[in-house]
Amino acid sequence: MSALIDSYGRRHKDLRVSLTDRCSLRCTYCMPHDFSDWLKSDHLLDTDELMSVISAAVSVGIEEIRLTGGEPLLRADIVDIVSRIAGLTNAPKLSLTTNGLKLKELAKSLADAGLERINVSLDTLRRDRFVALTHRDRIDDVFAGLEAALQAGLAPIKINSVLLRGINDDEAPALLKWAMSEGFSLRFIEQMPLDAGGIWDRTTMVTAQEMLASLSDHFELSPVPDRGSSPAEEFYIDGTIETVGIIASVTQPFCGACDRLRLTSDGQLRSCLFSLEEMDLRKVLRNPDLSNQEIAEEIADRFYKTVAGKLPGHGINDPSFIQPRRPMSAIGG
Ligand code: 5AD
Ligand code: SF4
Repeated sequence: MSALIDSYGRRHKDLRVSLTDRCSLRCTYCMPHDFSDWLKSDHLLDTDELMSVISAAVSVGIEEIRLTGGEPLLRADIVDIVSRIAGLTNAPKLSLTTNGLKLKELAKSLADAGLERINVSLDTLRRDRFVALTHRDRIDDVFAGLEAALQAGLAPIKINSVLLRGINDDEAPALLKWAMSEGFSLRFIEQMPLDAGGIWDRTTMVTAQEMLASLSDHFELSPVPDRGSSPAEEFYIDGTIETVGIIASVTQPFCGACDRLRLTSDGQLRSCLFSLEEMDLRKVLRNPDLSNQEIAEEIADRFYKTVAGKLPGHGINDPSFIQPRRPMSAIGG
């Protein structure tokens, strides 16, 4: 079968798979503390349905799968999912983005099942700020989870930090010093208009330029050439080979090199975080009139259609931009 190339020549190799929209934290930039508008549980794809989509995705040229949420480790079948993906013929590269709370319990089983790498979200090193940012007093569980992940060999571990003005934006240098001392690779992310509460405000967003300025007071940063399709622009730190990444999704969108598609936990395929349209795969998977072979073909076809309809960019900076109805927790980061 031919590759997933869109009308702008971008070949799609990376599929982000959200396993649940639920989460054990309530990060302020993601969802309100009393959020309750969860997806219906009978709409979530089960393990077999997920595997049908992932197998079809691999058959049309997806080479990398990132499991996300919400919090993907809340799925009871997470270890089984990882082992089934890792066991596929032409198995894709496999990583996972987590808030880290359940890593202490699961890191070893995940690594044994074939997980290669993890990204852990952590925006502050201070307990009081962690509580203010996530509405849960769980920072020690994140640190214990990171330790377990290191022990399990899930390296390199990447840390994602979102900086919020007046809340943790003064912590960028401390976060970087900590990450370097622990051997983690850190990426700072500009806050995007994807929260369930609609609190995003362009005028207060901490920009990539501000992040760089604050880091440059403490470190000598020089750009790493050849970014490829990575959303992060990487910088060497103090003339070493260690790097820090900045993801400037809003002020310097990197859509031109995008190679990503997204599957929501309720089985909708999206061409972009900010898409207003979705392709319904759940309906195909649950169509009793189709054989397994027909389901596989129809899903592959919907991957091609989704890629064919992909826009050149997310349009965040266009006057006509509309925030998608679904929050990040339901799309998958
Ligand atoms: N803007 C930027 N990053 C976000 N994340 C969640 N919501 C947002 C947002 N509105 C981050 C999480 C996680 C990653 C998947 O996306 O912190 O690290
Ligand atoms: Fe959970 Fe991630 Fe949203 Fe925080 S950003 S509430 S960890 S899904």
